[in-house]
Amino acid sequence: MLRIQNLSKRFNSKVVLDDVSFEAKDGENLVILGRSGTGKSVLLKCIVRLLEPDSGQIFIENKNVLSLNIKELNELRKQIGFLFQSAALYDSMSVRHNLEFPLVRNFEFTPKEREEKIVSVLEKVSLLEAIDKMPSELSGGMRKRVGLARAIITEPKLMLYDEPTTGLDPITSKEISMLILELQKSLKMTSVVVTHDLLCAEIIADRAIMLNEGKIIFDGSLEDMTSSNDEFLIQFFKHEILNKSETTNV
Ligand SMILES: Nc1ncnc2c1ncn2[C@@H]1O[C@H](COP(=O)(O)OP(=O)(O)OP(=O)(O)O)[C@@H](O)[C@H]1O
Ligand SMILES: [Mg+2]
Repeated sequence: MLRIQNLSKRFNSKVVLDDVSFEAKDGENLVILGRSGTGKSVLLKCIVRLLEPDSGQIFIENKNVLSLNIKELNELRKQIGFLFQSAALYDSMSVRHNLEFPLVRNFEFTPKEREEKIVSVLEKVSLLEAIDKMPSELSGGMRKRVGLARAIITEPKLMLYDEPTTGLDPITSKEISMLILELQKSLKMTSVVVTHDLLCAEIIADRAIMLNEGKIIFDGSLEDMTSSNDEFLIQFFKHEILNKSETTNV
């Protein structure tokens, strides 16, 4: 479904992605872990060409993403859902209009079809009662769920999630992670999930990658990653677990 080959990206003299290669198979849930500032968001943005990589290749369903023209790229983007790190909703639009936005912009659905899709996707994230609410009336967890609904409403084949559980309490994080897993199964999507949240990774990951200073230093099962003897991985998970117990105690 997704194949990245020798991808590199720098900003001025700062190398952010350094010869990154990996694949996500059809229907697979791939989790990308890594410390803050290590290039995870840049990597996701390169995949949909919100940022242009300096070198390397990206294939989505055997389409060479970097060689597409704007029209072809827009066609491809219709099949990709992106949940941004901020999961920003349009504050001046109700939940219904936030969800309608990607449908109106990219597709030619009738108003009735649009309404059906909006209702169906809100049912999937258990938020139908919020359909006429404004984002400011929702909790952080609810906003994430609306963001998730907006990302999947076009039924993408590939979903890219950037920190889907950041800023949520541990219980809500777990709910969102379970929801991502459920949606992925029922919609048969391939997902790439960037996260700091080890519990989220444990729930979602079929496979896990560790990115450090722009390089992939591990690609395999999460179990093997967390039990690795590699000094960096030991330190990473030690801090990750310490952070988690701190947030749980608050
Ligand atoms: N548009 C940009 N212009 C210049 N530098 C950028 C840009 N976007 C990201 N960077 C730099 O690239 C590096 C990687 O950023 P990125 O956002 O990918 O980190 P991250 O791994 O997602 O971190 P976090 O876990 O905190 O979200 C950072 O040093 C950042 O300052
Ligand atoms: Mg990021």
